Amino acid sequence: MSSSLATVSYIGATILFILSLGGLSNPETSRRGNVYGMVGMALAVLATVFGPRVTLAGIPWIIAAMVVGGSIGLYAARKVQMTQMPELVALMHSLVGLAACLVGFASYIDTSVVLSGAEKTIHEVEIYIGILIGAVTFSGSIVAFGKLSGKIGGKPLLLPGRHWLNLLGLLIVIGFGREFINAHGVAAGMLPLAVMTVVALLFGIHMVMAIGGADMPVVVSMLNSYSGWAAAATGFMLSNDLLIVTGALVGSSGAILSYIMCRAMNRNFVSVIAGGFGTGGGAAAKKADGEPAGEVTAISAQETAELLKDAKNVIIVPGYGMAVAQAQHTVFEITKHLREKGVNVRFGIHPVAGRMPGHMNVLLAEAKVPYDIVMEMDEINGDFPEADVSMVIGANDIVNPAAQEDPTSPIAGMPVLEVWKAKTSIVMKRSMASGYAGVDNPLFYKDNNRMLFGDAKKMLDEVLGALKG
Ligand code: TAP
Repeated sequence: MSSSLATVSYIGATILFILSLGGLSNPETSRRGNVYGMVGMALAVLATVFGPRVTLAGIPWIIAAMVVGGSIGLYAARKVQMTQMPELVALMHSLVGLAACLVGFASYIDTSVVLSGAEKTIHEVEIYIGILIGAVTFSGSIVAFGKLSGKIGGKPLLLPGRHWLNLLGLLIVIGFGREFINAHGVAAGMLPLAVMTVVALLFGIHMVMAIGGADMPVVVSMLNSYSGWAAAATGFMLSNDLLIVTGALVGSSGAILSYIMCRAMNRNFVSVIAGGFGTGGGAAAKKADGEPAGEVTAISAQETAELLKDAKNVIIVPGYGMAVAQAQHTVFEITKHLREKGVNVRFGIHPVAGRMPGHMNVLLAEAKVPYDIVMEMDEINGDFPEADVSMVIGANDIVNPAAQEDPTSPIAGMPVLEVWKAKTSIVMKRSMASGYAGVDNPLFYKDNNRMLFGDAKKMLDEVLGALKG
């Protein structure tokens, strides 16, 4: 393939990637967005493999690597549960970081490129920064994977003087960066490069370990952004324009997503990075004297069905538990049944519901819930006082009134769905355990709240049976 054809293909792929991002911003156009992304990537791979910079002898190696990588990817994508997607994404971000590091070291020891003067310095700066971002992304994403999969606890690790440690790390990176640029020969430059890599790896671990459970949404999108910048840095090292543009697209869209996540949680980015928000999660809250924090009123599936039958306005709030129980199809059946009976059923989606951006929207779309009754938090929050029943399905943190009522709560100030303002709220979960942020939920003890204990899928099946019966 001639170099001009490769350039045209790269421009085509760039346009397709931009169209893809545009498509993914709306559930109705997201399928098309995915198709654009796939076609763009296929074009990019073909133009690179058969482009002017790959020799014929290299092609079998590339194909072999693609078969191995592609098979692992296909296996993982088929095997992974929907609830494990965030962990998989974190693991994939770590691979982008690792690739940036490896490409960085490879281009440093590559003797086929002979540069001098300013060009050499620029290339070395690219390598240094590329490996730096890659190493932070790699180790940070591995820790994020551990936290999201529950292999590492959600409680933030707050070392004494941690900000000073970070500052020390930065100074070491700058100092060794100078030494790296001034080094004569590859052997002399290897030591500062290796020291910086180790410091960057430790920084990545330290940064994500210090972030509490409740801030994980921001971390997921932040690492997504870093992986984009790592790819862009790799593009600079390899002088590959498409990789630079694609990396910048991922980097900037990840940064915008981080901003949206921060706003959704009323947190500022610097305090997220500073760490320490949220705890491990899991246990039910107790008062200081060991007594349960309040009294709850349980309800049966039959009684829930009665309440729903008598309602005119119902708002359903799904959360992580709906994803775990895979209850979305039964939710759809109940919605369909109630709508046929003239009940106005709508859904309220919190921006950080579940474990990944858009988690609930994906599940509801999969179950064929019509898009026009799925509302964002800001669109529906004012309507709870008019709702007869608000039904919370496996959600916890996103409906926690402590965020508004208790200024000392770790989630104080985080916008939440005000389900308690409905005439009756029903919370469907298995126990009194706290949610991901590990914060007790006073909603459970409110007078107008009822608890429907049990697995969401099982309970909803019973509710559907009772509605139909
Ligand atoms: P959570 O606060 O995690 O609450 C989910 C609840 O579902 C749990 O309290 C659990 O209670 C219940 N549950 C689990 N399995 C269930 C099952 N099979 N049937 C019924 N209930 C079940 O979820 P949320 O309200 O969706 O809030 C999301 C949280 O995750 C936020 O803290 C957010 O910051 C964090 N987070 C979000 C993201 C993104 S990007 N969305 C990423 C990382 C972290 P039981 O154990 O008692 O059943």
